[in-house]
Amino acid sequence: MSDSPRLAGKRALVTGGGRGIGAAIARRLAADGAAVAVNYVSNRSSADTLVAELTDKGYQAVALRADVSDPDQTRVLVDQVVAAFGGLDILASNAGIEHFGALESITPADFERVFRTNVAGQLFATQAAAAAMTGGGRILLTSLISARIGVYQHTLYAASKAAVSAMVLNLAPELAERGISINAIAPGGTATDMAAEVASRYIPPALRDASAEAVIKSMTALGRLAEPHEIAAVAAFLLSPDASYLTGTTVEAAGGQR
Ligand SMILES: NC(=O)c1ccc[n+]([C@@H]2O[C@H](COP(=O)([O-])OP(=O)(O)OC[C@H]3O[C@@H](n4cnc5c(N)ncnc54)[C@H](OP(=O)(O)O)[C@@H]3O)[C@@H](O)[C@H]2O)c1
Repeated sequence: MSDSPRLAGKRALVTGGGRGIGAAIARRLAADGAAVAVNYVSNRSSADTLVAELTDKGYQAVALRADVSDPDQTRVLVDQVVAAFGGLDILASNAGIEHFGALESITPADFERVFRTNVAGQLFATQAAAAAMTGGGRILLTSLISARIGVYQHTLYAASKAAVSAMVLNLAPELAERGISINAIAPGGTATDMAAEVASRYIPPALRDASAEAVIKSMTALGRLAEPHEIAAVAAFLLSPDASYLTGTTVEAAGGQR
């Protein structure tokens, strides 16, 4: 049996890879043997620090700036990854933005911003990556548990993530013809900057006096938020050869959230 790590020789792009869940995925893919491009949009120092951490361990990694809400920048990003690594085998499309708001507060600009990043951003990253995956590949998009479980005033964000689950389902057959699998991961609440900013918004009106911690405990079978590395472990499986019979699926990693 070979001792090579399971992604040895693979070339990966992680969008929004400088911090949070994306950074955990980048760490995990690198440890599994892949060369990893860490994309960021505004937080260059986090991406540079992560790349330094990975290269210090002997892994191959680069940091690349691109705003995935702009398809032109995403195409350039994929070209840069191909130039750096000689090809692309894996896309972890993780970049995303949150939104909470009452129906009457949602503006067309909010809709445009959320859907440009969370839906168009993932669709055009998939388009550019698939075009570069000349030898087949694996694509993982990021959905959300609220695509299935209603959360108070989470409509716009949940709708954008539900669109992602529909995208993987419908893209699976045409990408299969090209030897590419496409799935989505739907994390539950995960301890990142994003969760820190909005955790209290997950408290339903009927439980307004409860703490966010008590509500999370009642919402999940495991009684806690996920750590980013726990989501990354599921992502790494979905991006590995072990997931050879999985495509078109949204896999929930949500601690039994209900
Ligand atoms: N945390 C949760 O509880 C949770 C639950 C379910 C799903 N998710 C999803 O999981 C993904 C990661 O979440 P997180 O909690 O790690 O978020 P986070 O801590 O807010 O980090 C967001 C990441 O996305 C990047 N990003 C945002 N807009 C971008 C753009 N236009 N172009 C390129 N990169 C962009 C950010 O880059 P910079 O560092 O440059 O700002 C950052 O790396 C998101 O898609 C989120 O919707 C999160």
